[in-house]
Amino acid sequence: MSPRVMRAMASPVLSHLDPEFLGLMDDLRAGLARVFCAPAGSLALAISGTGTSGMEAAVANLVQRGTRVLAIVSGYFGDRLAEMCARYGADVRRLDVEWGRAVDPDDVRKALETSAADIVCVVHAETSTGVLNPVEAVARIAHEGGALVVVDAVTSLGGMPLDVAGWDLDAVYSCSQKGLGAPSGLAPVCFAPRALAKRVTCRSFYFDLSLLEDYWVRRKYHHTMSSSLVYALAEAVAMVEEEGLAARWARHEGNHRAFVDGATRLGLSMLVPEAARLWTLNTVRVPAGVDDAAVRRHLLQRFNIEIGAGLGPLAGQIFRIGLMGHGSTPAHVALCLAALGDALGRGPHA
Ligand SMILES: Cc1ncc(COP(=O)(O)O)c(C=O)c1O
Repeated sequence: MSPRVMRAMASPVLSHLDPEFLGLMDDLRAGLARVFCAPAGSLALAISGTGTSGMEAAVANLVQRGTRVLAIVSGYFGDRLAEMCARYGADVRRLDVEWGRAVDPDDVRKALETSAADIVCVVHAETSTGVLNPVEAVARIAHEGGALVVVDAVTSLGGMPLDVAGWDLDAVYSCSQKGLGAPSGLAPVCFAPRALAKRVTCRSFYFDLSLLEDYWVRRKYHHTMSSSLVYALAEAVAMVEEEGLAARWARHEGNHRAFVDGATRLGLSMLVPEAARLWTLNTVRVPAGVDDAAVRRHLLQRFNIEIGAGLGPLAGQIFRIGLMGHGSTPAHVALCLAALGDALGRGPHA
């Protein structure tokens, strides 16, 4: 997090219905709509909770018993989304994709030709594998069959191109703590007009979009929102807008490419083919014979750098290295590469 966001969090707390706070919520709603590139008539706001609460808000307001869902599962978070739809009573069909690869839009088309769906769910940036899924193409195919598309943008918003209006996405959720660079605790969501029109009776009180709209738009109490988290997210969104979306995406791309170049020079290889790589989350193969936990421990203890382990079928096989938000800088790339080289005995200091 940037010092600016941390300072914003330290501002005096306001009550959840204080007129000044409500004004800040209005500004945040408008800022989030711009960062999502939302079409006119959308509802963008922040759910109180982490990214998973954004996922649950999208599902709880669009899925009811018997809703036919085609869930594209190409990693841990696609699986979570499929499970959440099932818990809300959906008839879920999975389109499983090899971990480390992006979904092929033709496979989505074939799956929908075999059996229609009301909703297609897809994770844009799959954090467990480092893969970018082609959500624009998926949305086009979903709409041809009359389905809505629900998109997990937890690891893309603020770090990689995402265009809700241009790509015609219906319901998109994210988190505060990744590309936007705020602390965790709020989940930006964006419901475009088609999704707003197809809302179901929400079985969750806390995630009921109509009640949330009553609070955010009509100032009616729903829950006691944390002003400290709103200060932080509003400041983070202001910083995104000052930098400009295109410049911010270019910064993430440049630092990602510099990281991949350096990792390649260290003799490391990436899990994901170049065209489908995330700029926010780099997945590097653990070299044969290397104990991945020992490397991660070395980075944390010697260099204060925390990287992620592989999940599920990729456990022990990859390192997951985040470069996002305020943390996506050339200095962090250089430090991380030097630390990796040190841990692996391959760097200039080895
Ligand atoms: C793609 C994706 N979806 C959903 C989540 C869940 O977010 P949270 O841990 O903030 O609840 C994560 C968390 O890393 C994620 O990477």
